[in-house]
Amino acid sequence: MKSNKLKLNELKITLKCGFGFEETLAEELNEMGYEETQIMNRAVRIIGTWKDVYFLNLNVRCAISILVELDHFFIRSDEDLYKKALRIDWTSFFDISKTFAVKGAVFSTLFNNTQYPFLLIKDAIVDKFRDEYGERPNVELKTPHVVFDVYVKENEVTISVNTSGLPLFQRGYRSSVGEAPLNEVVAASLIRLSKWDRKTNFIDPFCGSGTILIEAALLATGIPSNIERQHYAFKNLKNFDSEVWDEIYANAKRIVRELPCSIVGSDISDEMVLKTRRNLRAMSFGRFIETSVKSFSEIQSSDEKCFVLSNPPYGERIEAKIPELYESIGNWLKHNMPNTEAWIISSSEEGFKSIGLKPSKKYKLYNGDLECSFRRFDIYEGSKRTKL
Ligand SMILES: C[S@@+](CC[C@H](N)C(=O)[O-])C[C@H]1O[C@@H](n2cnc3c(N)ncnc32)[C@H](O)[C@@H]1O
Repeated sequence: MKSNKLKLNELKITLKCGFGFEETLAEELNEMGYEETQIMNRAVRIIGTWKDVYFLNLNVRCAISILVELDHFFIRSDEDLYKKALRIDWTSFFDISKTFAVKGAVFSTLFNNTQYPFLLIKDAIVDKFRDEYGERPNVELKTPHVVFDVYVKENEVTISVNTSGLPLFQRGYRSSVGEAPLNEVVAASLIRLSKWDRKTNFIDPFCGSGTILIEAALLATGIPSNIERQHYAFKNLKNFDSEVWDEIYANAKRIVRELPCSIVGSDISDEMVLKTRRNLRAMSFGRFIETSVKSFSEIQSSDEKCFVLSNPPYGERIEAKIPELYESIGNWLKHNMPNTEAWIISSSEEGFKSIGLKPSKKYKLYNGDLECSFRRFDIYEGSKRTKL
């Protein structure tokens, strides 16, 4: 039988992220002190320990889930997959009282049905437990205690345990959401991608339920994005070391007495602003973030430099007259917001065209399944005067 590969100091840790955010996640890991990163497709790989796994689940902002590799092998057939999976020491990872699920992705001509490899691995797990204990753990697809991730690329198989469980964008701070909320991991990744210096005054003029504002404040204060989250699948593994976790959790920053800059949000909908305020209540910095009900067009910057990062309606989930709206965003930036760096995420190419400003940077990325563009517009101090 294969020995348990989870040696303490050399785990292969894969942090999954969205398309286009690989470099952003690698940069975040570098900043945390993980210098050796390997960029993969929608993921970044590092080598580390279980302590790193716990630390990263709490602290990383730009990853969706964190996997630890259990085995990696090559197969010739479906039967081969079952046999090789049977050699894995499954009973050392979790006990019979825990439910489990096998998920993942399959890109292989060996399988006509892409779900079949998951079924084979599930059978191997169940058979292994039956052999050893005469009993088997139950499968639970919706909220399993333990999730195994299987990646098959042609004849190459990687089996990992998903140490996060529910995706890490389920931060635990958002009780109220709007119609088109931005995923928290996407919001955090956009802020990092924009290279906001965490000191310049920050504005989200289409704040909805406040995700961008909260992620900006979490970043600027150094409070872990997952400070409010309780669920982590690694707690259900047999090797869970609660002392190590308790120490990491206890040492995390959670209280701040001020923000390093002003962080301000507004939305035309009073219902949305109420949701933002409700979400902010969970955070120690909540009372420092100013929110108001108003249209973006009423915002006038002061002399100080401003940083705007926002996702206006795209016309997908929220109905809006896109060309008119984006044209007024362009005019507002030119006339009301001199000395501003503005970043807009939108799926509407028509909208971007109507802004009437040339972006100095643009990135293609996804908000859920929606292809979006994230663009930077620089409004200089003189722009207002030149235009008038
Ligand atoms: C895509 S949503 C923003 C979602 C937000 N990022 C979140 O995570 O909840 C766009 C928001 O723009 C707001 N909005 C629409 N027209 C507006 C206007 N003229 N001024 C300010 N907000 C507006 C809508 O009420 C909506 O909440």
